[in-house]
Amino acid sequence: MNYKLSKFGERFCAPSGTFTLMDDLGKALTTNPDMLFLGGGNPAQIPAVEAEIVAAIEALLASPGGVQRLCGNYQSPQGDPAFLEAMAAYLQRNCGWPVTAENIALANGSQAAFFVLFNMLAGEFDDDNLSQILLPMAPEYIGYASSGLSDNFFVSQKPLIEPLADGQFKYHIDFDNLPLNDAASAQGIGAICLSRPTNPTGNVIGDDELEHLRQLAKARNIPIIIDAAYGLPFPGILFTQADCPWDDGIIYLMSLSKLGLPGVRTGIVVASREIIAAYTRANTALNLACSSAGPALTRPWFEDDRVNLIGRTMVQPFYEQACQTALRLVRDKCADLPVRVHAPQGAIFLWLWCENLPISSEELYQRLKARGVLVLSGHHFFIGIDTDWPHAHECLRITYCQSETVLEQAITLLAEELRSLYQAD
Ligand SMILES: Cc1ncc(COP(=O)(O)O)c(C=O)c1O
Repeated sequence: MNYKLSKFGERFCAPSGTFTLMDDLGKALTTNPDMLFLGGGNPAQIPAVEAEIVAAIEALLASPGGVQRLCGNYQSPQGDPAFLEAMAAYLQRNCGWPVTAENIALANGSQAAFFVLFNMLAGEFDDDNLSQILLPMAPEYIGYASSGLSDNFFVSQKPLIEPLADGQFKYHIDFDNLPLNDAASAQGIGAICLSRPTNPTGNVIGDDELEHLRQLAKARNIPIIIDAAYGLPFPGILFTQADCPWDDGIIYLMSLSKLGLPGVRTGIVVASREIIAAYTRANTALNLACSSAGPALTRPWFEDDRVNLIGRTMVQPFYEQACQTALRLVRDKCADLPVRVHAPQGAIFLWLWCENLPISSEELYQRLKARGVLVLSGHHFFIGIDTDWPHAHECLRITYCQSETVLEQAITLLAEELRSLYQAD
């Protein structure tokens, strides 16, 4: 470009890890349309959910003022008041949270809300102090990585690794080393954030771990952002029991995306009234208003709890079944290989740990791409920690939002590639 870029331009227009990765995935698919695509984060197309969406569109268009509600008005900066009321009543009924519409605001996708909230709560302060977003453990969602307005925006730490039966393992938060334990290091933390279930691992941080974190955060007066994109209260893509606690120090970020509506770009922030008021002002400056399509289409789902029926009888069972298929295929095809799988407790991915992998996971990604299989190299997800940790270069994320045929072909090729690597070593 002929023009000199600002610091903002340098930071946000440079090819970030996330951009390069998405670009690479896109180009690989264009070059080879037959690529076995286990790479992206798109939700699966579930026919029963698609039928619900079609019915919602038809009902909206047939109702008086339907087109206006779909796309004919700017919403108020906080979001469509009728949707906020319906959401508050839904959360009171289903989660027992003492919230009203004043505790809720909308976003053009939860990704946009992360940007506002992260930079509202961390970064440079007017007393020249800096604070960071604490991700209690890496790996975490790659989408956070490029959203800070200042350097060293995230801090995280290695997880504890619990070996489990059946070739599985589970990450836990290393509470002993968390920078919340002493007042001085906690001062540098502006907010804590975790995805539950976690993208990329499918981990669901236990209720006891979350409670421990909540107590530490409360004692230090630091908010916790819970990224519920896949979790509770909807769409509920969990394969284990979990609670969703509420207090004034928790900020929930929800999304319509993994229900099957990523294109309507609707995120939902639920938090204390003060946080919502501040967030709404920033969101107005950035977006003026949020998309009305998601709220208009789905408000009836929240008014009569249909969203629970969709989540529990269509979305969750679909992914649990797909997860079991992927797990069985990995077990069968990789039985002779040192490949462990993170206990799949939710979301839409399997996280594979290829112990003592002779090459880096990034090189493995390149080799698999050349053979027509797209996965994600795990190193991208180790945000805010020292990337020299060998484990960070031994993992892969694969999505199971694909047909069994595609999964089987892809996992067979993956196993073949790994076998040749381990045998040559
Ligand atoms: C863990 C997690 N959080 C947030 C998002 C962003 O979702 P959206 O902006 O579509 O609401 C995603 C998208 O894949 C995700 O995986």
